[in-house]
Amino acid sequence: MILEDLLHDRLASAFATVAGRDVDPAVRASPHADFQSGAALALAGELKRPPREIAAEVAAETDLDGIAAVAVSGPGFLNLTVDGAFLTGALRAAAADERLGVAPVAGPERIVLDYSGPNAAKEMHVGHLRSTVIGDALARTYDWLGHEVIRVNHLGDWGTPFGMLIEHLLDGERSGDGHSIGDLTGFYQAARAKFDGDDGFRTRARLRVVALQSGDPVSRELWRTLVGQSERYFLDVYRRLGVTLGPEHFAGESRYQDDLAGVVADLTARGLLVESDGALCAFPAGFTGRDGAALPLIVRKADGGFGYAATDLAAIRHRVRDLAADRMLYVVGSPQRTHFAMVFAVARAAGWLPETVHAEHIGFGSILGADGRMLKSRAGDAVKLADLLHQAESRATAPEIAISAIKYADLSSDRRGDYVFDWDRMLAITGNTGPYLQMAYARVCAIFRKAGRGPGAVTVAAPAERALALALLGFEPAVRAAAGHAEPHRLAGYLHGLAAAFSVFYERCPVLRAGDDATRASRLGLAGLTARTLHTGMFLLGIEAPDQI
Ligand code: ARG
Repeated sequence: MILEDLLHDRLASAFATVAGRDVDPAVRASPHADFQSGAALALAGELKRPPREIAAEVAAETDLDGIAAVAVSGPGFLNLTVDGAFLTGALRAAAADERLGVAPVAGPERIVLDYSGPNAAKEMHVGHLRSTVIGDALARTYDWLGHEVIRVNHLGDWGTPFGMLIEHLLDGERSGDGHSIGDLTGFYQAARAKFDGDDGFRTRARLRVVALQSGDPVSRELWRTLVGQSERYFLDVYRRLGVTLGPEHFAGESRYQDDLAGVVADLTARGLLVESDGALCAFPAGFTGRDGAALPLIVRKADGGFGYAATDLAAIRHRVRDLAADRMLYVVGSPQRTHFAMVFAVARAAGWLPETVHAEHIGFGSILGADGRMLKSRAGDAVKLADLLHQAESRATAPEIAISAIKYADLSSDRRGDYVFDWDRMLAITGNTGPYLQMAYARVCAIFRKAGRGPGAVTVAAPAERALALALLGFEPAVRAAAGHAEPHRLAGYLHGLAAAFSVFYERCPVLRAGDDATRASRLGLAGLTARTLHTGMFLLGIEAPDQI
């Protein structure tokens, strides 16, 4: 049950009576009361009446079931205080429900969630960390709310680099030095250096791409070796990160190779492709470059090869037609915003993406170094995710604390913005951090170890109990907001607020040394619900919640 919704409905009908039309009372949590509405102020002009007078009339019209008081304050705000018995009832209902009173969504959707998507034969870099961590939190949240989530790991496992990578692998075999692909970046860089500096190698690499694309068995076999090695490496990273991606979720670019000719044929038949410098391009309406010229989406390159956009078009067709997606979300960095907007536009024009299917790019900003620039390693190149995890594991006492700290730092900042990667801040045990949440959770667990009994029926009396009760009842709106906006930081911020409310409560309201048995039972009830709410919320974010630290 969402308190805001209840108060919203009560006020909405009172406002409708007073204003003679539907009004959104915009109920918000407030430091001045439990909740506040400023809607009377917004109506003053239209009704040509003083806002305080409107507010007073609305207060008088409000159905007080569940509300202890509606008071006019300041220039015409309505301050709402929730009825104590009502709070108690709502908490008891949440405590009695294994889902903490959060019902599964009424209309479950099939959501295809595209996240992580690293590139084979290259190390994952920190940009893939954001996609992986944010995507996984969303997958867990949608799952828990009752949607059907199909996780898709759109691995970059195809394209021209594989020509040079296979040749480089073969060179190692020929010379017997067995070039190691254990060090993916080193392997890639060595191949790249040869490609740039050696004409003979470059020619072989080009021929190898052609052979690979036409299905030559030896080339395919070597390609499989390279991709397989990368997949094992990525799975190890996922395991260390504690994300829910497994081998069954790999659906790399190579899967769509056989569909690409059909994509071109379909688009051509619909008159959506134009030849431009030998390439086949779509020009979806409304996309222009800086010079004002229409932006092309290159579907087939001049050399006959297909690129990233063609594969994404084929993937959309597959996800709508074969996977029957209701919603498709792509957790990919913000620089790819235009790519996705154009791909969606072309897919809609081609009839592959009907209006009933929602497609959205869930973009995110960059991770910055202390200097405010893109995070770089000391050598000046992109930071490898594996190195970061290694640093984390060696820095803190327990790896689950350090890994959670990295994940939480990412999840707690608004994904649309950039954030600064700062070990000291993310590992701090105060503030909106992973360790703070984990300590708060472990502290509540410790109370129960000492109590020797379970939680009892909650009664809300002291102000700090009331504040904690209101915080606990904020769980459902926080989860729904995080899901609705695809913004895990809304849930993270909520959990931090809940942990803070618990710590004030714990300071002011003795639990085990409470004066009487009923109070002790009730406070244990509040503590128990806090533990379960923190645990569930942390689980949804993919943050470990150990009982003891
Ligand atoms: N491999 C891509 C990259 O590293 C991300 C793939 C995202 N998903 C997609 N369907 N395009 O940038």
